[in-house]
Amino acid sequence: MSVGADTRGSSEEVAAAFELRWGLLVGAVIVLLLAMIFFTAVHWSSMPPSRVEVIDSTTLHRAGEFVESNLGTAVEDNGQVVVRVLAEQYAFQPNCLIVPEGVPVTFRVTSSDVVHGFQIIGTNVNSMVVPGYVSTFVTTLEGAGERTMPCHEFCGVGHAAMWARVRVVPLAQFEALMRARPRAGCV
Ligand code: CUA
Repeated sequence: MSVGADTRGSSEEVAAAFELRWGLLVGAVIVLLLAMIFFTAVHWSSMPPSRVEVIDSTTLHRAGEFVESNLGTAVEDNGQVVVRVLAEQYAFQPNCLIVPEGVPVTFRVTSSDVVHGFQIIGTNVNSMVVPGYVSTFVTTLEGAGERTMPCHEFCGVGHAAMWARVRVVPLAQFEALMRARPRAGCV
């Protein structure tokens, strides 16, 4: 009898010791996760961990850099090739981009509604597009031809149909296009 009682008592102690150990482990994980959240929130000011540039997403269509007439590919006064894109449910404006081959191109993308994704298949271009922020990245596209540019963040019922094209053209052809129109697009 007393043997049985002793065994039960010791197994309870073993269980309690295990529970305490697991409790401490889980507690430590929770503290670590909270510390990480606190650190990133303070350190990055709760913003996307990239170059942070804010923009008023409610006035994009009326004024500023992302009005319709300013979208597409432009050559700036300093010679920089800049592509401006507006992501909206459920299309990119413009839906076909012209970029020169072998030249650094600066993409500037923003959203007027929800979070979208910006990716050019076969390149390193891959970014989230968050309303209120301008996503910027510079890349050089090699090899003339057409590439697909799908939205890769679920943004609503039309997400799967949200994609555009990127047409990479030889530099001479690009320069001729830019001379013809200040904001080149496909067509
Ligand atoms: Cu836009 Cu998915």
